[in-house]
This record gives sequence, C-alpha cells and structure tokens, in this order.
Amino acid sequence: MSKSIDGLWTPTEEGVDPSRVPARKLYTGALMPAIGLGPFGSDHVSADEVAEAVKGASFVGYRHFDCASVYGNEDRIGKAMREIIEGGVKREELWVTSKLWNDRHGEGDVFVSCKESLADLQLDYIDMYLVHWPFPNYHPPLCDVASRSPNAKPYIHEIFMKTWRQMEKLVDMGLVRHIGTSNMTIPKLRLLLMDARIKPAANEMELHPHFQQPELFDFVRTNGIEPIGYCPIGSPARPERDRSPEDTVDIEDPVVVKIAKRLGIHPAVVCLKWAVQRGQTPIPFSTKRRNYLSNLKGVVGEPLADDEMKEIAGIDKNCRLIKGQVFLWKEGQSWEDLWDLNGEITPP
Ligand SMILES: NC(=O)c1ccc[n+]([C@@H]2O[C@H](COP(=O)([O-])OP(=O)(O)OC[C@H]3O[C@@H](n4cnc5c(N)ncnc54)[C@H](OP(=O)(O)O)[C@@H]3O)[C@@H](O)[C@H]2O)c1
Repeated sequence: MSKSIDGLWTPTEEGVDPSRVPARKLYTGALMPAIGLGPFGSDHVSADEVAEAVKGASFVGYRHFDCASVYGNEDRIGKAMREIIEGGVKREELWVTSKLWNDRHGEGDVFVSCKESLADLQLDYIDMYLVHWPFPNYHPPLCDVASRSPNAKPYIHEIFMKTWRQMEKLVDMGLVRHIGTSNMTIPKLRLLLMDARIKPAANEMELHPHFQQPELFDFVRTNGIEPIGYCPIGSPARPERDRSPEDTVDIEDPVVVKIAKRLGIHPAVVCLKWAVQRGQTPIPFSTKRRNYLSNLKGVVGEPLADDEMKEIAGIDKNCRLIKGQVFLWKEGQSWEDLWDLNGEITPP
C-alpha cells in the first residue's frame, strides 16, 4: 500500500496488502473480497464513528463494506468513500454492498431507494444490492422485539417477484452490478431460482460457529450463490432486545478458546479464520483499529489445521441470534415461523 489519504494513511507494514486478501469469484466472474467490514453501529456506535472506521479500515487494507440504508449512516459512509477514492483507491478496487429496506419493496420504490443509497454513498454504482429481508414489514429502528408492523404481511412469492423484477431492472440500468438476497430460506430461494431472470449472486445469512446453517450453506453454494455471513463473531455487543436466555457465546466456546490460545489470537479472529476457510464471506463489525486490523490479518495469516476445522464443525449449536420477531405478521406466531424450518414456506 502506498497511497496516502489526507496524510493519514501511512504505508505501514502493519496493514494488509488488499491483493493478499482472499476473494470469492461470483457466477458473473466478478471478484468479491472474502472479508468485509460490517458497518451496523446499532444503538451503541454513532454514524460518525462508523464512518471513521470505514476510512480507517480502508487504510489497513479492507476493500469490502457491507452497508444498508436502514443502518442510518450511508451518508456519512459516503463522505468516507469519497475521501478514500480521492485519496487514490480506485472505485473498481472497492466492493460496496447496500440493501433495500423492507418498507421499499413496492412498485417504483426500489429504484428510488437505490438512487438514495447511491447519492448517500456518493457512488455511481453499487457492487451488490440485497433485498434485506424477504418480508415487506416495516419496523422503526431500535424498536422492541414485541413490536409489530400493523400492515405486516407473510411472504407471498408473487409479491416478492415484483420486487425482484425491480431489482433486475437496476442491473439493466447499470446502477448495481449484482443483486442478491438476505435472510432467505431454502424453499423461498428455490422459487426465486425458478423465476428469476437475473439470479441472486449472494445470500447474506447469519453464520458463526454456533450457527452454521449447513443445509442452507450447501444449498446456496451448490446453486452458485455466495454465502455472506453476518454476526460472524456471534455479535457479542448486540442490544438486549436481541438476546434470549438460551443464546450461547461463540467466543467463549472451549474449542474456539483453545485454538485462539494456540495461535495467540483473540477468539473473535478464530471465528473469522474458520469462516473464510469454510467458504463464506464474514462481515465483522468493529470500530476499533486494533480489532479490525487483527481480523484482516487473521484471514491472511496461518490457516487453521484440518482437525481444528473439524472440531469447529462439531460445535454447531443451531443457535440463531437474530430471530427476526419484529417481522412476524400475525398474532400467536413464534419466530421460527419466519425461517420455514420444516422445509416449506410458512402458510399465510
Ligand atoms: N443482513 C442482515 O440482516 C444483517 C443482520 C445483522 C448484521 N448484519 C451485518 O453483519 C455485521 C456484523 O454483525 P454484528 O456487528 O452484529 O456482529 P459481529 O461482527 O459478530 O460482532 C461484532 C462485535 O465483535 C467485536 N469484535 C470485532 N472484532 C473483534 C476482535 N478482533 N476482538 C474482540 N472483539 C472483536 C466488536 O467489538 P469492537 O467494536 O469493540 O471491536 C463488536 O462488538 C453488521 O455490521 C452488518 O453489516 C447483517
């Protein structure tokens, strides 16, 4: 790395040369860096701090940023993007994802929402535009898990396809390079794969050692869809409203801790090494330079041994952290209804 941004980016051996970061080849042939920075500050990190971390992360070699309009910080991240590009990083070296929020699925809304994200991010195109959730159910940021949208609807495939057609049009218009999904299930993806003119290039899904989703993981990869893994460290700082008594803690798992000790790294970094080696693209959040730097270094450093990979495969606890309760559409349901656990789309 030899560019300098506002004199802040000193070419230091501390950073990682972006060309050393593993990449995923998508079905289009495009290369997506196999680790990104997740910039969702939730209710505890301000938009300005996150934008500062985006800049800082670019200095140490990150090129992939997993944005979303609902994170409420795309305008600040856009300013950071501008500085990064003006500082000498070429636009085509960056991989920027954004996501369509649930209240913008309607006719005409997808284009408007995408244009807003482009303007906020100060970009001419988005590399990957995801439908954030398959439900058009709005909920205000930071609301309680018991909160429900008064007009909440179930997943209706014909309605989802109307949204997807608008997503496809964004590709035709050159506003986005790839489209994808997030929080989908196998039966929903099966229908989408049958009906899509432009198939999803990625599915963003919760993935960490205690929640490995092996069936969905295999399904998406078999179908040429890249799994992007959110909460890759098990989201240790998630807000109270996203915690349940039965949740387990990945970075305290004895297997993860043992491997971390062997390598002299934080258990968080073990989770990320495992993720990249397994074949998913983790998008860890951090605003602390020390942490986001060691995360990036971790995925280019010494790989986990085969028996360590096997040991981690054995600690899956099927522990979903982001249960999605606020997207339920009728009284008396439980969060499992969002995830089609018996292999069929939950009836309306
Ligand atoms: N598509 C979706 O529906 C969806 C849902 C949820 C999340 N996401 C995406 O996934 C991203 C990550 O999720 P997340 O933030 O919930 O969980 P996460 O990345 O699993 O965990 C982030 C936490 O780990 C800590 N951490 C990071 N690196 C560390 C290290 N090396 N050592 C010690 N601690 C470390 C961070 O603390 P510090 O900040 O103190 O370092 C932060 O508290 C989000 O930002 C967002 O982009 C997407």
